[in-house]
This record gives sequence, structure tokens and C-alpha cells, in this order.
Amino acid sequence: MPSVLLIAALAGLAVAAPQNINAAAVSGLVTPTLLGPDVAELTPTPIAYNPTSAARAAAAEVTANPVTPKKRSVVNLGAASPLNGAIGKRDACDPQPNGIGPVPGKGAVAEYLDPYNALSQAAQDAATPKGYTKAFTNLQGSTQQIGYLTFKTITSDVYDTQACADFCDNVNYCLGFNIYFERDPSVDPAAACPNPKPVTNIKCSLYGYPVIAKTATNMGQWRGPEDSTGEVFHVVIVGSNGYSKLAPTLSPTKQNNFTGPSTLLPGAINAPYDNGVDTYLGMKLYNNGPYDPFVCASACQAQTAYDRATAGPDGSYKPCNFFNSYILSKNGVPQGTYCSFYTRSWDEGYAVNTGYTFGSDVYTVEASFTYGLTNVDDGQA
Ligand SMILES: *[C@@H]1O[C@H](CO)[C@@H](O)[C@H](O)[C@H]1NC(C)=O
Repeated sequence: MPSVLLIAALAGLAVAAPQNINAAAVSGLVTPTLLGPDVAELTPTPIAYNPTSAARAAAAEVTANPVTPKKRSVVNLGAASPLNGAIGKRDACDPQPNGIGPVPGKGAVAEYLDPYNALSQAAQDAATPKGYTKAFTNLQGSTQQIGYLTFKTITSDVYDTQACADFCDNVNYCLGFNIYFERDPSVDPAAACPNPKPVTNIKCSLYGYPVIAKTATNMGQWRGPEDSTGEVFHVVIVGSNGYSKLAPTLSPTKQNNFTGPSTLLPGAINAPYDNGVDTYLGMKLYNNGPYDPFVCASACQAQTAYDRATAGPDGSYKPCNFFNSYILSKNGVPQGTYCSFYTRSWDEGYAVNTGYTFGSDVYTVEASFTYGLTNVDDGQA
């Protein structure tokens, strides 16, 4: 058993151990299939996340697999996938749309990748939009991580971080964005037009979690057949910057049937026993879709319904009256929406779990908020 070191101070309280952040749940996660725009994509991806169906799936999953502290609780709500028609129609040698960004030199791959070119300079000089913090600057890869929402191609030749921030601010759940230059073919490469002239697209992709340098890993691709010199068109990504919403601007939505959200908490709830009774019910971790406490609210209510339906002969059961929702990151990489469920409310004084070291991995807590059931369930059928 690897040892789990609690970083946060616990103020001498007796702690119900199972609330410790469940690292095993992270190692069992299935990575969603859709982590960013396909480099061949021409038209913006329709947002595949549907909160209603995610919440319904969470409730159904809890009913089938109610929270139990000792059990792994990893949930795949059905991978988000590009909708039909998401990838623009392409025919051999058709001109490709957009492509109005600046082309360095003659447009050779080496000219794009030159760290001293105008594209790199634009990325380095770009202003950080108000309400955001810069996560990374001038990388040669685009973001691939959970919570991908959609993208757009900027309709001017300006590397406009504010335009991306405005886009993010207008899309529900957006917590971070990636802006980058992409070297794209001017026509769809085919046998009659191999390795065509390049154009530059400036793209913004949006995420439902903060973006980080470590996930800017999409280095492009090769497209089409070889030309007479044996060259294939090479899509490359340069001047890739990431920006995430500042913590104080995070404000998850209200949830029906619950009070809250609380103010932004400094960590996850770590509740003591209440008169000898463990009030912690268990946890779920959801990595399909953006950070969304709605799935926690739905799971909490489904858990209560399950518990009530399976109450003992005396009619008593453990209701879910309170949940804590946060983003769990592993070594800085967001892992999903973490929900922990309790039979009673706990105030911000118990939000002391800021993270753990588990073996060589560091787990951290961000965007922690609590919600309490408005009509508290007394746990008596
Ligand atoms: C609110 O509670 C009612 C009664 O339990 C339930 O029918 C309804 O689905 C809940 N609403 C949401 C959004 O979970």
C-alpha cells in the first residue's frame, strides 16, 4: 500500500479516513476520446456536452453502483464524440476556408518553427485578457485534455487573445482556452495537388477545466500524398498560448433543490465524526464533459433515493444532504469533477484538504464549492 500523506493540517480533528482523495479512482479513469479540435477540422465542433443527459447518466450510475467508501468509483458517462458533420466536407484539391493568418517567409515548415519569427513574437507579446491568468506561452503544440468544448478560427489575421476570452466568456462551462497558429494546406492535399502551399489559421479552443502546458501536446500531423520530392504536407502548430480563468471569477451555477454554491473554498471538505457517526457517504469522479457540479447534485439525489428504497426494517437510511464538488488535478493535469457526499452540511472551516502526495504523484484541489439540500432529509422512511 503506498502511503498517503495529507498535506493539509487537520486541526486535531478525528478524520473519517475514506474522505481522503481517492487516487485509485484517478488511475482507473478512462480517458474521453475527444480532447481537442482535430487538426483537419474546418468548422467549429458543436458542443457535445449535454448537462441533462450527463446528470441523468450520473443518477443512473449511482443507482446501479451506489457510493461506498472502500470501492473504486470511476464513471465514464459515455465519451463525448464529434457529431456527424462536425468535420467540414472536403474534396480533393478543394480550396480550404479561412487561412488568413500571417505566413512566415515562404511558408516552409522550418520558417513556421523558427523561434524568432513573427508568430512566436505575437504569442510572446500577447496581452493576458482581464479575468484570466496565463498558463503557458509560445509552445509548439495545441491543447489536448479533458473538458474540450469547442473551437473557432479567428476571422482576422490578428492573434487576438481578447477575442478568444470573449468566446470563452460566452460559452457555458468554459474555464480556459488555447490560442495558436496552425500551418494548414491551402487546398485539400490529394494526388493532383500534393503538399500544397500553406496558409495560417489562428484558432481558439475552449475547455471546461483550466488549461496547462503539459497538455499542449498536439504537434500537428501529415496530410495527403508525397509530392515529386517526397514531401508530404506537414501541419504544425506554433505560438500556442494557454489562459485559464482566475479563481475569484469562478462561479458555478446554482443547483435546483440545493442551497449554494458556497464561496470558493481553499480545499476539499474533510469532516470529522459527528458524535461518533461518520457523515461521509462516498465519492464519484466524472471526467466526461466540463467541470459541472450539476452531475454531483444529480448523483447525490439518486444516492438518497437508492438509500431510502433500501432502508432497513426500522426505516432509517443515510441521506445525501450535502456535497462538495471540486476539480481534482494530478501533477497539475485536471482529472475531472470530483464529488463527495455527506449526510449533513459542513462549513468552510472543514475545507482543509488542499491535496495529497501519493507516491510520486501530487494531487491538488481547485474550484472547491459546497451545496446543501434545501429541504434536509431526516433519513427516516
Ligand atoms: C428536486 O427534487 C424533486 C423532489 O425530490 C425531484 O423530483 C427533482 O427531480 C429534483 N430536481 C432536480 C433538478 O434534481
